[in-house]
Amino acid sequence: MAISERATTRAGVDRADTAQGDTLDVTPRTPQVAGGFPAQRLRRLRRNEGLRRMVRETRLDPAEFIYPLFVSETIREEAPIGAMPGQSQWPVSAIARQAERIAALGVGAVILFGIPAVKDEIGSGAWDDHGVVQQAIRAIKDATPELTVITDVCLCEYTSHGHCGLVRDGEVQNDETLELLARETLSHVAAGADIVAPSDMMDGRVAALREALDAQGFDQTPIMAYSAKFASAFYGPFREAAESAPMFGDRRAYQMDPANGREALREVALDIAEGADIVMVKPALPYLDVLARVRDRWGLPIAAYNVSGEYAMLKAAAANGWIDERRATLETLIGIKRAGADLIITYHALDAARWLAEE
Ligand code: PBG
Repeated sequence: MAISERATTRAGVDRADTAQGDTLDVTPRTPQVAGGFPAQRLRRLRRNEGLRRMVRETRLDPAEFIYPLFVSETIREEAPIGAMPGQSQWPVSAIARQAERIAALGVGAVILFGIPAVKDEIGSGAWDDHGVVQQAIRAIKDATPELTVITDVCLCEYTSHGHCGLVRDGEVQNDETLELLARETLSHVAAGADIVAPSDMMDGRVAALREALDAQGFDQTPIMAYSAKFASAFYGPFREAAESAPMFGDRRAYQMDPANGREALREVALDIAEGADIVMVKPALPYLDVLARVRDRWGLPIAAYNVSGEYAMLKAAAANGWIDERRATLETLIGIKRAGADLIITYHALDAARWLAEE
């Protein structure tokens, strides 16, 4: 079959299968193994670091790292997070200094999570123009305008029940939540956020946020959608860090079933159709297959979230002397990138940036 024919078929499949597909030819190249040993000796190009460096397929660059920051209204000083050694909650007063350290390492962006002093049933702190995240955005943009500021758009840190949307009769209400998320988004962007990242997993939220942004003149603000976000045990340490564990039930009625790969592609396709500029797979390590399938199918930038539990496992093994932290961390990040991520949200960002600068 001719290449052009194959490309057409592939694009056709994408269009039928997914609301909006790229028409790029993504046909995988066949590994070149004809002839075999002894003509082919793959060790030839592994003999020394000069050769290995030359044929290396994947490289890490701190510009692709997104570093999560927890900003709390309830503390006056840095407060270390027990289950995430090396990570802390920060008061707004310390956030500019921290942003300067992050920017100095060449890290591309931060993603902000807020812990408000008061929570209520509807999470109204989320769209308070003087809320903790809004203050942090202003402080960071003042101190380091070159550092990209992404905000996590969700209600779970702001609701008294800890769910990601409005709850009625024990159920998270989808359509009514969209309006609250839109308010939160506009408040973040008005404070200076560069990118908004909805993590709530309501249906239709990308379209709702895009529409709200455009209507207010923010048609240049990108949306990074947590598209394939799975209901994962690996978010455990984050919920301590963000004080956002649900008070009843769990998130399985809105986040995805870990067993579903095809459904993840549908989530991604819908988010692209609704206007997402960047899509995300989360967590990263148990879902590298999903990441690779999304990469195969679409050309837009893809983010992977190397989540709190993945970080905690590695740190715990390293603290016990069971693993070489530096090598294991860089191997983890390169694996995520090799699988298809353009951007990696990771708590290892600052360490990794330092190690890469030394190499
Ligand atoms: C908010 C949100 C969560 C994470 C990112 N945004 C927690 C959750 O959905 O329960 C998890 C990040 C991590 O574990 O590092 N909805």
